Amino acid sequence: MRIDFHTHLLPNLDDGSQSVEESLAMLDALHLQNVDLAVATPHFYSSRKNLEDFLEQRDRAYGLLVRKDSAPKLLLGAEVSFFRGMGKADRITELAITGTNALLIEMPFSQWGRNEISELHQLLDRGITPILAHIERYFSFQKDLTAFNEIINLPVFLQVNTEALLARKTRRFVFKLIEHDFPVLLGTDCHNMKKRRPEIGAGRQILLRKYGAAYLEQIDALGEDLLKVK
Ligand SMILES: [Fe+2]
Repeated sequence: MRIDFHTHLLPNLDDGSQSVEESLAMLDALHLQNVDLAVATPHFYSSRKNLEDFLEQRDRAYGLLVRKDSAPKLLLGAEVSFFRGMGKADRITELAITGTNALLIEMPFSQWGRNEISELHQLLDRGITPILAHIERYFSFQKDLTAFNEIINLPVFLQVNTEALLARKTRRFVFKLIEHDFPVLLGTDCHNMKKRRPEIGAGRQILLRKYGAAYLEQIDALGEDLLKVK
């Protein structure tokens, strides 16, 4: 099953889709690329919105998109911006992908250290499985790689934006992750139909050429396993 783990396709929630029409166009674009399942992951910033309001607005936006023949299928989640205290936050599990303990986390765009390590440990201890959003985007902020290396070696999943496979520098980083057997998941991080489009096919094509069909099957199976869908 082909899964897009990171999308901003719910309408009028964040800096993603700004209308139902745009959301449906994004879903159609994913469908054309044979995506079976997309996880809707609107931004959640604990400092800007309370959880109750976020969940209510997310459900309402989802309701606007549900079609009988909905393809790809949609699962609800969130892209939770890292915050101090998230490891102990009572209701954070409500932001996990529906029916799972998997939580997509946008890590700080700054040097990582003890705080990041400690919050992730607390989440893991509670049985939450962190998925680190667009893992290729933090590397340049790490003058010291100690915490970064420690974190990517925790039992977490590493989500790669498919567009990272299209640029030489980030592609090299993603290839390294793959060659060291890190658990990689793919997401488009699509926001609209203009500059940040739902584009997954070109990235998958690059992986296909480099590592063969078996590797793509492995990525898809890893995603299915995490979501327990078949
Ligand atoms: Fe995102």
